[in-house]
Formats: sequence, C-alpha cells, structure tokens
Amino acid sequence: MADLTVELCGVTLKNPVIPASGTFGFGREFDEIYDISCLGGVATKGIALTPWGGNPVPRIAESRGVILNAVGLQNPGVEKFIAEDLAWLKGKTRVIANVVGRTLEEYEGVCARLDGLVDFLELNISCPNVRCGGMAFGIRPENIEEVTSRAKAKCPHTPLIVKLSPNVESIARNAQAAERGGADALSLVNTFTGLAIDIERRRPILANNTGGVSGAGIKPIAVRMVYEAAHSVKIPVIGMGGITCAEDAVEFFMAGATAVQVGTQNFTDTRACPRIIAGLNEWCDAHKVERVADLTDTLQLNG
Ligand SMILES: Cc1cc2nc3c(=O)[nH]c(=O)nc-3n(C[C@H](O)[C@H](O)[C@H](O)COP(=O)(O)O)c2cc1C
Repeated sequence: MADLTVELCGVTLKNPVIPASGTFGFGREFDEIYDISCLGGVATKGIALTPWGGNPVPRIAESRGVILNAVGLQNPGVEKFIAEDLAWLKGKTRVIANVVGRTLEEYEGVCARLDGLVDFLELNISCPNVRCGGMAFGIRPENIEEVTSRAKAKCPHTPLIVKLSPNVESIARNAQAAERGGADALSLVNTFTGLAIDIERRRPILANNTGGVSGAGIKPIAVRMVYEAAHSVKIPVIGMGGITCAEDAVEFFMAGATAVQVGTQNFTDTRACPRIIAGLNEWCDAHKVERVADLTDTLQLNG
C-alpha cells in the first residue's frame, strides 16, 4: 500500500482526492452511498453571505464529453451553512469552504465568518463583479490581487486557496497575482464559458444562454493550465478539470498538482472519488511509487 497522504499548507490530507465545489453539495447525499470520511477533503458548494436562489431552469445541458452548467451559485448562505451543513460535515474529513460573492465586501464577510471554523477557504473568483459591470473578479490580475489580499486579511487563521478561472489571457500572470495577494494555494480550473444550441428552436439550451463547460473533454486544457500555473508560483496547486480515473489524477500530479478535485464525474459515477483513491493505490503499487506526493511535478518536457 502506497502512502497517499499529502501536505497542503501545513495541513495533512489522508489522500489527495477531493470532490469539487458544486458537484457534491455538502456531502450528505453521497454519505448515503459511501462513507465520505474516506476522502482527502470535501470542497463545499459556493457559500455567500446571504442565501442565493440561482438561475432559472434549464441549468444543465449535455454535450459530447462535457456538460454545461449555469446553476447560478444557488446556496443557503453562510449562517445556515455553519448551523446545519458544517455542523454535520466537521470532523468527517477536511472541509474546504468554497466562497462566492458579488462584491469585495461579500467575500470579506464570508471569509471573516468562516475563519478558524473550516480547514481551508477556497475563493471562487469567477463570480460576476458588480463593480466591474458584471465582469468576473478573476479575469484581470489587478482585481485578483485585490480580492485575494482583502479576503486574506479577514482569514488569518485559515489557509486561503484562490480558485482560478480558465477564461483568461494568461493563467501564469493570474496565478502570480493571487500569490502576490497572499494566497496560500491555488486551485484550477473552474469551468470554461460555452454555448449549447437547440437547433430545432434556434435557441440556447440553457435559460442563462451561456454556461460553464466541465467534464472529461476539458482535461488536456486543464492539465496544460495547471502545468503553467504551477511553474509560475511557489505556492501549492490543486488541479482539476475532467478527472474520471486515477490515471487522470496522476497526469495532474505530474503537471505540478499537490492534490486533485473531481467534479462532473461525481454525476455519472457517484462512487468516482473512492474508486479513484483505490486506483491511485493500485497505480502507485504497480509503478513502485511509495508516496503519491513524490509524483508531484515530475513531468519532463520533450526536447
Ligand atoms: C453543476 C456544477 C456546479 C459548480 N459549482 C461551483 C461552485 O459553486 N464554485 C466553484 O468554485 N466551482 C463550481 N463548479 C466548478 C467545479 O468545481 C470544477 O471547477 C469544474 O467543474 C471542473 O472540474 P470537472 O471537469 O471535474 O467537473 C461547478 C461545476 C458544476 C458542473
């Protein structure tokens, strides 16, 4: 049996496999299928200062190898999260609270409220920024640095992960901006903006028109971006995007990731995460890798 433990910002995870935000709720439904304490951690649904209702339906569209979603960050708000979901989840595994907001003050408020209560905070900076006319916080390096440093000032006791959007000009520059702002780690990728059309109606399938693309088909783009981000900063990186099996996770480790998150695959295979954990053990044994942590950043480029 290989050693699957990994260190992330001074916190030990029992293994590097974490269900991704928005694809696992707060874990309750999955805990009826398997014991979620086997996971390295759980990244919660995005949590705002007050409850958000989300977008009109349809919110999910399928396309070959990927899905599009425009759920609209529906969530119960931070107080209900603490009273009900965190109370249930705490102690089972590491809790990574995903934070959303439409203003800097909202991000600050959620981080301040959750500081010291969870193992990590993960800032979803793909939310529309009301101050920038709806453009996401996570597009321009100067906005990324600002939202990161303002959030970090409010959570001195909790490692802050900044989750990067892939819909950007330079993932390396944005990764560096988050690091300058005081991020303790990065996670990427969030979803790619896409459009799926119902050709009979000549209308978008999603009520929101566009949606975020995720799932198996995005993996090579995500691996490239994780490689670029990991090689432009000193802080650790959590990789995700299209992971369906242990071998996919190994690619992300080799590209520079310390841990991985599994998203859309939880919908097609509700046991995806424990299967990937078991698969990592087998892969490491078959390749005589004693510690999964030794795989991180071992890619050697050609030429
Ligand atoms: C239905 C759905 C909801 C999501 N909600 C969130 C969210 O609340 N916060 C966030 O940071 N990412 C959210 N994501 C993005 C995922 O966490 C992940 O970054 C993305 O789906 C890529 O990974 P995957 O290809 O394994 O799904 C959501 C993705 C999906 C499919």
